[in-house]
Amino acid sequence: MIQDNFPPARLRGGATQATPLRLLQLTDCHLYASPERRLAGLRTQQTFDAVLELAREEFHTTDLVLATGDLVHDASKEGYRRLRRRLETIGRPVYCLPGNHDIPEVMNDIMNRGKVTSPESVRHGNWVIILLDSTVAGREGGHLRTDQLERLERNLEAHADCHAVITLHHHPVPVGSAWMDRMALDNPTDFFRIVDRYPRIRAIVCGHIHQEFDGYYRHVRLLGAPSTCVQFTPRLDQFSLDLVPPGLRWIELGADGSVDTGIRRLAVMPEELDLSVGGY
Ligand SMILES: [Fe+2]
Repeated sequence: MIQDNFPPARLRGGATQATPLRLLQLTDCHLYASPERRLAGLRTQQTFDAVLELAREEFHTTDLVLATGDLVHDASKEGYRRLRRRLETIGRPVYCLPGNHDIPEVMNDIMNRGKVTSPESVRHGNWVIILLDSTVAGREGGHLRTDQLERLERNLEAHADCHAVITLHHHPVPVGSAWMDRMALDNPTDFFRIVDRYPRIRAIVCGHIHQEFDGYYRHVRLLGAPSTCVQFTPRLDQFSLDLVPPGLRWIELGADGSVDTGIRRLAVMPEELDLSVGGY
């Protein structure tokens, strides 16, 4: 059941020497206009609500939430409106970016009021978080257009005194699953050419892969997270649903530029997966 608000957070203006900036990543919610509709057997609204409840119970000191795309599978206004109402109950800033299943214009229109917004960057303490749109209309794979590369560079320059997190839907490096890596970011060289020039970039956070991923590009932490609904089996070349429950990633950003992070999942699968599904 959805309550009105998370318990009150510690009151402070952002990261300090003593306290890290605490983030939650909620991703690939794949909601529909109908809360009863299922994806691979799971009612995605129900699994999202269960993950939100987990966040409420275990991460009530979180400072902000990143919602990293594929928020509404059918890109319906009803789906976004219901998602926004749910996210508002967190009582913290929620920053959204689109995935390949979203329609950015529809998402931005609805997910841009109150505490739930779709900014290009946000600054909290001595951290800046830069949100990029890697979607290409009609395609599953990702691409960073010139305007997005310029957005990245402009915000890195404007916040040169900050540690930086970049977040986008599509994974910029292969994760070791051929079918998924065919839908990766298709111009990582353009992206990493910019990343290489800014040593204060500490982490790159993506959605899309529906599985835990924790690696490095040089000194930069590369992070992917479970979906709030169906999971994909890591390191398999064919599409395969994983039996592990939905979850979220928590991230703590230290004032010294450190990144601490982990995955938290529901204790059990909330519903039975339909394993006959051959894709999504
Ligand atoms: Fe997804």
